[in-house]
Amino acid sequence: MAADLGVVGLGVMGRNLALNFADHGYHVAGLDRDPAAARTLAERSAACSTPAIAAPDRAGLVAVLARPRVLLLLIPAGAAVDEELALLAPLLEPGDIVVDGGNSHYQDTIRRAAGMRGHGLHFAGLGISGGERGARNGPSLMGGGGAPAYARIGPMLADIAARAGGRPCFAHVGPDGAGHFVKTLHNGIEYALMQLIAETAHAAHHLLGYAQGSVRAAFEEWARGWMDSFLMEVSIDALAARDPESGRPLLELIVDKASQKGTGQWSAAAALEYGCPAPTIAEAVHARCLSALRPDRLRAEAALGHPRRAYDGAREEALAFLGQGLLAGSIAAYAQGFAVIHAASEARGWNIDLALLARIWQGGCIIRSRLLEPMAEALTAGPTDNLALAPAIVPILRPAEEGLRRTVALGALHGVPLPAHASALAYLDGLRTGRLWANMIEAQRDHFGAHGFARLDRPGKFHHDWTARP
Ligand code: 6PG
Repeated sequence: MAADLGVVGLGVMGRNLALNFADHGYHVAGLDRDPAAARTLAERSAACSTPAIAAPDRAGLVAVLARPRVLLLLIPAGAAVDEELALLAPLLEPGDIVVDGGNSHYQDTIRRAAGMRGHGLHFAGLGISGGERGARNGPSLMGGGGAPAYARIGPMLADIAARAGGRPCFAHVGPDGAGHFVKTLHNGIEYALMQLIAETAHAAHHLLGYAQGSVRAAFEEWARGWMDSFLMEVSIDALAARDPESGRPLLELIVDKASQKGTGQWSAAAALEYGCPAPTIAEAVHARCLSALRPDRLRAEAALGHPRRAYDGAREEALAFLGQGLLAGSIAAYAQGFAVIHAASEARGWNIDLALLARIWQGGCIIRSRLLEPMAEALTAGPTDNLALAPAIVPILRPAEEGLRRTVALGALHGVPLPAHASALAYLDGLRTGRLWANMIEAQRDHFGAHGFARLDRPGKFHHDWTARP
């Protein structure tokens, strides 16, 4: 029996996606550099509805696939993808489809799609979110590339995707690099939400002096409301975990240096490239970079002293403000991510349906949350200047705003850095300030560079002799 698809790269994601396909009746052939990984897939899939087979090499894989062939790559983003495509392309035939399921940069995907077109091959960049469990039980899938490929792979992807509200969390979001771009911004939002949660737990513990058990209880309460989300679940587990040997809270023993693989940075770069502010996403990346300077931080703390001052106010009230601040900051993070996707979609003519994204992110992915329900509603109702200002979101944001303001003020007054919160507050305040400070920037630019400026009281472009005092 010819195989329905080939999965190339059987690490955690590849193996679990292959098993997910096998469970849905697809006949999968697996290939990995390590032949043992392909054998493991075949063994583990024995219990699936259609057991998978191990391919001996690329030629063997291509030979067993039904035409047009479908190959799904789950290999590390970067040079490895180019190398794999160079080896596979000569073995394939026009009309075959290669899907890159890694966290590739969208511009690489656009370039690769053009290269594969030269061979008559379809190339689809597929964003996959959900980690190991998502891959096995139902990820959120963001497809990019040409429509002909999706006529063939769309139904397969819909079958293995998570479901939310009875519908699959899969969509063909747009042409060429759109799928990987959307996945990148998904991760940008992920970075911002993670940082906001981390700052909240940190402030509750170090600023207000709550023990981790109490912080967990507060998180559990907030997660029963609008903060019901996968990342809150993850964080509650983290707050509950204990070191099996010492019995101490495990978080206390984890080094405070955050790693990153690049998608957050790409999100921030895209925000700048498309001229669309996403300060909380960018701040979350900066915050990881700052955390990585641990030796410098320790030296500076020894030399300058810790900036933290004791808090002597009403703790319960302040904790409630932290909960509101987290909610308001989270809304700002989603709003920024959606706005960058919209800006890129407009610039590149991708025609991405933001309401559809809000729907397919409600299951399977890392940023799934209850907040995405009113966001999907707001985006379905029609174009919105900014999600944070949409009629379905304002009643959620309004009562939380004061908490964000108080949280940022508390952090500033007590020397506890809360950069994502501070950026979210400045973003929300800036969004609805009719008259900003940029008149001074325009005057400065015209002063030293004769760049010209526009006036409120008459049309046209103006220049002024700034050194001639009246
Ligand atoms: C997902 C995750 C996944 C991965 C990130 C981690 O949606 O399933 O985003 O893609 O966990 O790439 O990224 P960092 O290592 O940069 O935090």
